[in-house]
Amino acid sequence: MERIVVLDFGGQYNQLIARRVREAGVYSELLPHTASIQEIQGESLSGIILTGGPDSVYAKGAKACDNGIFSLGVPVLGICYGMQYIAKVFGGRIEAAPVREYGRTPIRMQDHPLLRGLDSGIVWMNHNDSVFAMPDGFSAIAETEHCPFAAFADDARKLYGIQFHAEVAHTPNGALIFRNFLKDICGCACTYSPSGLADMLVAQIRAQVGKDRVLGALSGGVDSSVASVLVHNAIGDRLTCIFVDHGLLRQNEAEEVLGFYRDQLNLNIIHVDARERFLSKLAGVTDPEQKRKIIGTEFVRVFEEEAKKLGGAEWLLQGTIYPDVIESGTQTGATIKSHHNVGGLPKDIGFKGLVEPLRMFFKDEVRALGESLGIAHALVWRQPFPGPGLAIRVLGDITEEKLSILRQSDFILREEIAAAGLAEKVWQYFTVFTGMRSVGVMGDQRTYDYAIGVRAVTSTDAMTVEWAELPYPLLRRISERIIGEVPHVNRVVYDITSKPPGTIEWE
Ligand code: XMP
Repeated sequence: MERIVVLDFGGQYNQLIARRVREAGVYSELLPHTASIQEIQGESLSGIILTGGPDSVYAKGAKACDNGIFSLGVPVLGICYGMQYIAKVFGGRIEAAPVREYGRTPIRMQDHPLLRGLDSGIVWMNHNDSVFAMPDGFSAIAETEHCPFAAFADDARKLYGIQFHAEVAHTPNGALIFRNFLKDICGCACTYSPSGLADMLVAQIRAQVGKDRVLGALSGGVDSSVASVLVHNAIGDRLTCIFVDHGLLRQNEAEEVLGFYRDQLNLNIIHVDARERFLSKLAGVTDPEQKRKIIGTEFVRVFEEEAKKLGGAEWLLQGTIYPDVIESGTQTGATIKSHHNVGGLPKDIGFKGLVEPLRMFFKDEVRALGESLGIAHALVWRQPFPGPGLAIRVLGDITEEKLSILRQSDFILREEIAAAGLAEKVWQYFTVFTGMRSVGVMGDQRTYDYAIGVRAVTSTDAMTVEWAELPYPLLRRISERIIGEVPHVNRVVYDITSKPPGTIEWE
């Protein structure tokens, strides 16, 4: 198997690098810069990419990796900080550039296998420091006005560096650098594809689980469905799936999801009604992080009990994907919110461990994998729904009345988006119980009722999103219907915040 490790030094675009490598046809994993040589080597290794990062290489506490990576006999490509790190390790000199470069920057490139095909003369820069003296054995292969070594190469030792960000869409043809690195420098065949991926993941699951049994947390969404099908393909009936109704589902959701699973997937599923239990634990809780932690813990407790009833299951399967991991906080990235299945998990779980085959992937990659596994289109393209459900769409404390208002308004929104033919064009859309009350006038009477927020966003991977430009007549109809049909709502507001600076969910 061909495999590239991307070592994470804390830059903003790191997840994109791993993804570009997969798009170029080689399986890749993003590992923290502190990963051990054994983890980096794994069962196979074709090359290593060092990412960008916010540090200065000479600063106290600057991120470093085990320099044993340079003796593994595989090519290494450093990007931005990664390039400066290579220069420092091999005796070059790095300085703060007199003129910093941000954004689109003209560049002159030499004819070198790494840069072949990049003839537009523009790259995306984002740096304060630059390499000012190259280590022995390296030669410059690109320069900009203010950066004499915008790319360098030591072909004998197969060490390469680029100061610019080839992984972002703003570097025209930037993806070619990954292709060139993989094919011409690492010698990869670049044959990785979603179907090849399924086989590889099935083999990994078998190796992890051995002869044990697995309990699968199935939510009705694409991630847990794809993860369950993979595990089912790997271990068959030793997988039992649990669908928990925590009382925070959308209108008709439990029936819809169970119907889907029974009709579409040949999985063994147990339906647990835990509505009372979750809602009583959440009563009076207003803090979003506390809600997430309570839900994460309660889910695990339910799974532990179900495992016991079944006579034991050693592993818990979750459909965790990469944005859940990165937003919950990593060694290098800040905690944005604790996703229930990562940061919201209790420390003590009554299982040997977690099976999370999709932990390295983005939603659109999971969808491609789902399609390659033959999972029904309607299930693969369901809009994402967070595990904590409506709990993080009712701002403040959760009550049955608020949930009911939220469900009704959300149902209307979903009906209208579907009727407008936008269900697959808009990434995610839902209503929010804002908790805010305001004055209105209805039927000549004063009202003092709730405001419902409408959120609709477009995205490819949930990492960055734009608010969706829904047609005004559609927004008008949604507003009229929600106010007309849902008791105690007298105002509807549309959320026009992108991510960043907002997040998709309000909590
Ligand atoms: P945010 O709100 O962080 O959401 O921009 C990104 C995507 O993740 C979903 N989300 C979650 N999914 N458990 C989940 O399974 C969670 O705790 C969680 N929090 C957010 C969110 O709906 C969006 O699709």
